[in-house]
Order: sequence, then C-alpha cells, then structure tokens
Amino acid sequence: MMMKKIASIEAQFIRNLRSIYHAEGLLILALTRMVVAAEAPYLRAGLARHLEQTHHHLRRLDLVFNEIHHLPAGGECPDIAATITETERGLRSLTYGPTLDRLLIGAARKIGCYEIAAYRVIIARATELGYGAIVALLEWNLQEEELCEYHLRNVEAEMNNSREGRGSYLSNGTGAVAS
Ligand SMILES: [Fe+2]
Repeated sequence: MMMKKIASIEAQFIRNLRSIYHAEGLLILALTRMVVAAEAPYLRAGLARHLEQTHHHLRRLDLVFNEIHHLPAGGECPDIAATITETERGLRSLTYGPTLDRLLIGAARKIGCYEIAAYRVIIARATELGYGAIVALLEWNLQEEELCEYHLRNVEAEMNNSREGRGSYLSNGTGAVAS
C-alpha cells in the first residue's frame, strides 16, 4: 500500500516536472516575441532578463531529468499555453505602445507567479521523495523566478508611475488610476 502511494506521488512529480519543462520551452519563443514587442526600455530589459534566465532553467531541468533517469519530453502545461495564446492575440491586435506594454507586463507577471508556484510544489515533492541531489538545481530555478518576479513588479510600479502609462490607461476608459 505504502509502495503504491510512493509510486503515485513519484508519477505526479515526474508529470509536474515535465509540465514545467514544457512551459519553459514555450516561454523561450513567447518571451522572445514579447521582448521585441515591448516599447518601454525597462520593460524590454525585464523581459529580456527573464528570457535569458529561461535558457538557464531549461538547462538545469535537463540536468535534473538526467539525474533521475527520466526523459523530459511528453509534458503539457495548459495554463502557460493559455496565457501565451491570450498574449499572442494581444500582440496581433495592438500596436506598439503603453497599452501593449501593459498587456505584456500583466502576462509576464502571471507567468512568473505560475512558475514560482510550480517550482515550489516540485521542490516539496522532490524533498518528500528523497531526491536530495536535484533539490539544489530546482531551488536555483525558483530563486531566479522569484527575483525575476520582484524585478517585474518594480517594472510594473514604474509603468504605473510614468506619465505616459497613466495617460494611456485613462484613455482606454478601463478605470481610474489611484493617485
Ligand atoms: Fe522559468
């Protein structure tokens, strides 16, 4: 009974790991397009930083899969895929500028928060299953995701404080901005 329970926790762990691997792969393409589409330099820099780190995350996940003798292929991440689809729709319908920048920062933060939650769950399962050797690699990814989210939060605050951003927001008729 106990063995069966561990086997099913392990299967879930591998599924989660493959899912974040798939998500990181999707993000390489999506973030590349988002960097190009961003107008505000600090937003572009924040997205470019996340893109660069995503390459590192994938490489570390390759090491993780290698260590536990599983293949990374076969995962799906519907949540990240849906956010990317929604963002792509915005990229097609909006021109460069503050409104598109707002969509990009919203998507980037949503993605970042998802990744943080996903890595936290994966690390908890890895610890539970006794995969000590890979926890450090996963923690490294998590810490970078958290740092990236911190920077993107600051980017968003800067966008909210910038005069152009504020003007665009109001002109959208989407609501008042707190002063
Ligand atoms: Fe990532």
